Amino acid sequence: MNIAVVGAGNIGGRLARVWAAKGHRILVGTRNPAEEKIVALMRTSPERITAHSPREAAQHAEAILISVPASAAFNAVQELGDIKGRIIIDAMNAVFRKPEPYTRTSEAIVAASGNDHIVKCFNWIGAENIENPMYGNVAADMILCGNYAADKSVTQRLAEECGFVVYDIGGMDKEQLIENAAALWSSLAYGTGLGRGIAFKVLRR
Ligand SMILES: NC(=O)c1ccc[n+]([C@@H]2O[C@H](COP(=O)([O-])OP(=O)(O)OC[C@H]3O[C@@H](n4cnc5c(N)ncnc54)[C@H](OP(=O)(O)O)[C@@H]3O)[C@@H](O)[C@H]2O)c1
Repeated sequence: MNIAVVGAGNIGGRLARVWAAKGHRILVGTRNPAEEKIVALMRTSPERITAHSPREAAQHAEAILISVPASAAFNAVQELGDIKGRIIIDAMNAVFRKPEPYTRTSEAIVAASGNDHIVKCFNWIGAENIENPMYGNVAADMILCGNYAADKSVTQRLAEECGFVVYDIGGMDKEQLIENAAALWSSLAYGTGLGRGIAFKVLRR
């Protein structure tokens, strides 16, 4: 599928590489297509990853990953123009930076675009896990939430293509739970000194 990646930094860049390797076409929406990190990203898959203005990338995509700092969420989404009909994958977390004056990044997205087809995913564990979700022979878990089953099914497949075991925990009313899980990840990684090489696993009898 055609996926716009708005914010090809630590997390967006990794998702772009993995999805391109799985055969998707990645339209990177960037403020500076000539920047070295964008050029290097395109070099990893010249036939599948191309750079555009954020608006152009979004207009040609079926799904749009938003992976900018939460504080930039409203402006970054507003710049995309009319994005009705697209699935918006929200990989932002508001643990350190806030999407003010909004509380949750999804509120900023809806305010900026009028599109509530949002799936919260990929935001709660360190970006390094995107390219390497395996801990020995155990795959890390990914959780997502969103209001529309069809959007979640597409996003689940994209997360599974990264190698995650995926749990759908419900509607966007669960967003704060996932934000809290992101805060927990940060606290474990930095507060206890475990470092960034950690993820979560649900154990089940
Ligand atoms: N890093 C992680 O481990 C991790 C994990 C989970 C979730 N997240 C979340 O993912 C989002 C991105 O984090 P990241 O670590 O990937 O950040 P990053 O490396 O700084 O990348 C963010 C990208 O957003 C774009 N951008 C657009 N508007 C911006 C603005 N006003 N200010 C700054 N950048 C802007 C920039 O791309 P252009 O310059 O090309 O436009 C930049 O490359 C954040 O919401 C973060 O909380 C990060």
